[in-house]
Amino acid sequence: MNANDATPAADTATFRSLIQSLPADFQWGSATSAAQIEGAGREDGKGESIWDRFCAQPGRIKDGSNIDVACDHYRRYPEDVKLMRWLGLDAYRFSFSWPRVQPLGRGGWNEAGFDFYDRLIDELLQAGIKPNATLYHWDLPQALDDSIGGLLSREVVPLFADYAGEIARRFGDRLATIATLNEPWCSATLGYETAQFAPGHTNRAEAYQVSHHLLMMHGAAMQAMRAVGSKAQLGIVLNHTPSFPADPLSEADRRAARIDDGTNVRWYMDPVFRGQYPADIVEYLGADAPRVQDGDLALIQQPLDFLGINFYTRSVLNGRQQFVTPPGELGFTDMGWEIYPQALTQHLLRITREYTPPPLVITENGMANADSIVDGRVPDAARIAYLRGHLEALAQAVALGADVRGYFYWSLLDNFEWNSGYQKRFGLFHVDYATQQRLAKDSAHWYRDAIAAFKAGR
Ligand code: FCB
Repeated sequence: MNANDATPAADTATFRSLIQSLPADFQWGSATSAAQIEGAGREDGKGESIWDRFCAQPGRIKDGSNIDVACDHYRRYPEDVKLMRWLGLDAYRFSFSWPRVQPLGRGGWNEAGFDFYDRLIDELLQAGIKPNATLYHWDLPQALDDSIGGLLSREVVPLFADYAGEIARRFGDRLATIATLNEPWCSATLGYETAQFAPGHTNRAEAYQVSHHLLMMHGAAMQAMRAVGSKAQLGIVLNHTPSFPADPLSEADRRAARIDDGTNVRWYMDPVFRGQYPADIVEYLGADAPRVQDGDLALIQQPLDFLGINFYTRSVLNGRQQFVTPPGELGFTDMGWEIYPQALTQHLLRITREYTPPPLVITENGMANADSIVDGRVPDAARIAYLRGHLEALAQAVALGADVRGYFYWSLLDNFEWNSGYQKRFGLFHVDYATQQRLAKDSAHWYRDAIAAFKAGR
């Protein structure tokens, strides 16, 4: 690693004491996903995923890129684990690529694929870093899309459960946690309603049918993993973007915010924790509401060991159900997302109050920034401010009663940001895609210092 030694200014006493108030075993981490970093898209028997196919379709990815190489993590994982160690991470969140370990999504397993994850997990454990895995971070085997219609078919549910059981059987004793799904809202809505993500459909009814199948996949995978006696803590990762009315005094704006909250937060939280879909959203969807069979909701509502929440920003809506540009007092990220950390405090307390959830983990939080290398450094003061603001907001929620056990910065490395391609940089480490050289940004130094200070204060 090309470590630069410029350390940003020390943090305030308030920040330090807030962070010190977190539980002693609080997990400091960073997150990635298979499709975004691994590369080796066709190597060692890996099957095609819906994202491989999507990238090959002209116009889908803003910079026309693909994931054949990405960050070459498939080969460079030992170096990347060293970066994690240098940061002082307790935990690392990654995802398994389903088509790497089961190329067709059913039938034969690919031992070379399992071997890669075996080596990665060993490398992490040797570095004292707890592996936190996700089973589905959006890269469905393309063969399933071709043969059964992918997530549109209920047939995907038992197939996913088989895959989950196999991962838990092979790795359940070495993984700290296994999350079934990452952000099912994105798979369903961005994949089937807005066409921004693979497989790129534009049909709201499909999106909600897919959301139902994803939730069933979650439930069936939980059962399959419990059945093999997995020692890992099991849960799900949901993306929560709290909804605000543009004008809090306007009845129409408040209703729009309530519907947005219903489709984003309650549509997933209610079935998982209460075994029912929110009635106001079922009514709002009308004919687009999913077809639900007897027993489906009981399958979805499984006991969880943890709930992962991915938090980036908030949404502001007007009475015509449109997203409007928020005030942005703290500015916007390079994705155009408003920086609004106080929503994290409010939201964690709300979830705690309304759902009595299992222990919470912030499984993703971070920002894209227009980073560049200047004199051998990446000066990303905006990311440091974002990190500090969100850690403060998290610690405040904990002080007020939310049970949050860990924080994973998204992402360890600059990587393939889905339909934005490689143009959006979220990493603590800058990646030069021509040479694959990693360079610690100023924020990586800051995060490292914050983790070290937390540990020194114990
Ligand atoms: C989340 C995804 C993650 C990454 C970040 C920026 O929605 O889970 O893969 O793309 O957004």
